[in-house]
Amino acid sequence: MKILTVVGARPQFIKAAAVSNVIRKEHKEILVHTGQHYDENMSKVFFEELQIPKPDYNLEIGSGNHGEQTGRMLIDLEKIYLKEKPDLVLVYGDTNSTLAGALCASKLLIPVSHVEAGLRSFNMNMPEEQNRILTDHISKLLFVPTATAQNNLHNEGITKGVYNVGDVMFDAVINFKKLAEEKSHIVKELSLENKNYILTTIHRAENTNDINRLKNIIEALNESNKDVVLPLHPRTKKYIENYGLKFNKNVKLINPVGYLDMISLEMNSEKIVTDSGGVQKEAFFMKKPCITMRDETEWVETVQNGWNVVVGTDKSKILNSVLNFQPNISQKSIFGSGKASYKVLDTINNIFK
Ligand code: UD1
Ligand code: UDP
Repeated sequence: MKILTVVGARPQFIKAAAVSNVIRKEHKEILVHTGQHYDENMSKVFFEELQIPKPDYNLEIGSGNHGEQTGRMLIDLEKIYLKEKPDLVLVYGDTNSTLAGALCASKLLIPVSHVEAGLRSFNMNMPEEQNRILTDHISKLLFVPTATAQNNLHNEGITKGVYNVGDVMFDAVINFKKLAEEKSHIVKELSLENKNYILTTIHRAENTNDINRLKNIIEALNESNKDVVLPLHPRTKKYIENYGLKFNKNVKLINPVGYLDMISLEMNSEKIVTDSGGVQKEAFFMKKPCITMRDETEWVETVQNGWNVVVGTDKSKILNSVLNFQPNISQKSIFGSGKASYKVLDTINNIFK
């Protein structure tokens, strides 16, 4: 079978690192990078250190407004789909690259397979929520990571082609944890050994584009007086500079890091404070308390299980949780067995045999 996979943003490279090598054991994969993320530390580093196959095509679309970015992807993807004639198009997650990859295939009547289907925040102001819902409704195969995701699809009338395979990001952590322990020296380089530091990421549009939300987050981190490490997403860097916001000395700003450094920073942290989807899950995998600076989360099981608190961007709530939140119950298994990629492959094989 010829499977064409579309990736474009950082978390999709990590998901592909788990899935592509498994798919390639039995099928021909054409990998298309839309170029949505393009800085070396947002793209190239992942392909190199995780040995993701080199993309067959890089569309080099880059940044832009939603319509422009998605539209340019559609134009280029259509040409590639018509040339390559794939039997199946595979997309991950909820970015503009996901929607473009899926929509383009659907219009050409090529079956779409969506990995990480069924997630919902129930907040349609999020570009990701729009992308996910639209992608799910045009997908033939929907690989959900959790029972909640399966239920969300059921509530929207999507019951056919839904497979609960577990989470491919759990596969990635299992696959690369040992390598991170061997190869990453970031904790030592940042003089964080034996320190109770907080690892933070911020990039969600609703937090960066609103000066008050971003200011609250930064003030909470400043006032915590804890050692905080913050690998700064380029979107966030841009807004912080534009707004003229300042960090105290306790917050160490670093450039975005590769995946091995990131999971090493996660493993050695005391707590994780984030608005990222993937990082919330990784906090759970690493058994680290997670504080989520959003008004809702798609990963509700981590909250129900007591390891994640959703605090919005209220300064005192963030501060209080950074200082005091401690899960006091053992974890349940939420994200499958770490073999989600193989389940994706087996399902594709069964359906298309
Ligand atoms: C995108 C996804 C988001 C995902 C995130 C993962 C959409 C709508 N959003 O958000 O769901 O969680 O990726 O990180 O698809 N930039 C650079 N260099 C880069 C990439 C981006 O400087 O390599 C800057 C540009 O100023 C750009 C901004 O970051 O305008 C935002 O990039 P974009 O890809 O539009 O959205 P993200 O915030 O990265
Ligand atoms: N990540 C990384 N380096 C960083 C920040 C994040 O490798 O500097 C990884 C992180 O470990 C996770 C993924 O990127 O696997 C999450 O991506 P992001 O937060 O950009 O997007 P989201 O998951 O919210 O869509």
